[in-house]
Amino acid sequence: MKPELKLVSAQTPPAAITVTDFSAAYGDVNVIKNISLSVPEKSVTCLLGPSGSGKSTLLRSLNRINDDVAGFTTKGDIHIGESCVHKGFTDVTRLRAKAGMVFQTPCVFPGSIAANVLFGLKGRKLSKIEKAQITEQSLRAAALWKDVSHRLSAPASTLSVGQQQRLCIARALAVTPDILLLDEPTASVDPVSAREIETLIKTLSKDYTIIMVTHDVRQAGRVADRAIFLCDGEVIEQGPRDHMFSKAALPKTRTYLLEEFCDC
Ligand SMILES: Nc1ncnc2c1ncn2[C@@H]1O[C@H](COP(=O)(O)OP(=O)(O)OP(=O)(O)O)[C@@H](O)[C@H]1O
Ligand SMILES: [Mg+2]
Repeated sequence: MKPELKLVSAQTPPAAITVTDFSAAYGDVNVIKNISLSVPEKSVTCLLGPSGSGKSTLLRSLNRINDDVAGFTTKGDIHIGESCVHKGFTDVTRLRAKAGMVFQTPCVFPGSIAANVLFGLKGRKLSKIEKAQITEQSLRAAALWKDVSHRLSAPASTLSVGQQQRLCIARALAVTPDILLLDEPTASVDPVSAREIETLIKTLSKDYTIIMVTHDVRQAGRVADRAIFLCDGEVIEQGPRDHMFSKAALPKTRTYLLEEFCDC
């Protein structure tokens, strides 16, 4: 039998996530309207758009966190690599380990800094040495090791808000995901911590596929490799950052990204 041919351009990295004809609704209110998009692996894709345009809903659909919301329904297809997120993952825990999520407000659990890092590995049999290694690796990857190596057993709540957000990133990294879904990860931290997290996101994108929602258009200009502009549940335009922030972009995209205004 003739093998299926896949055309992949030399410049375009393979897609880590492919969304096809995807719609989502809360009850009978359709908030994502038949969108298609793709996210290349090992890069930062910023999701931009006005409040209520469906950015968080889309992000939360990618690892099916919204499955737990009463009345939430979807149509269409989302693939992570070769696997359909709906049909390919009977165990959503496995999907959520593959595509870890970090929320706008740092969500640290009661317990120590180390316990927070290891939270997602509770079911696994790990020796003390393995736990210590994973804790150190994850905190180093999240650029937090130097700040906390001397107080791993201190309560996580004693960290600053910026440090707590990096701890949440360390916790997501500990379960060895391929994808990080970040919903306004710097919205609740000060500008200096925000820049540190931006630098961290850029560094992590060498090894992970990152999708980040942000309202900060200038931040997207600094960290995005690609941008997707969503408005009223529709993808208006998507493409490489330089295209999206240039005069070549569609007028509506330009108005939002360059003038920070949307008339929808
Ligand atoms: N649990 C829910 N139940 C009902 N409607 C919801 C729910 N969550 C979100 N919505 C609605 O879905 C639409 C999209 O919301 P979503 O949170 O995805 O937008 P967003 O682009 O992330 O906005 P923001 O930038 O303000 O965070 C909004 O109209 C919102 O009110
Ligand atoms: Mg949101």
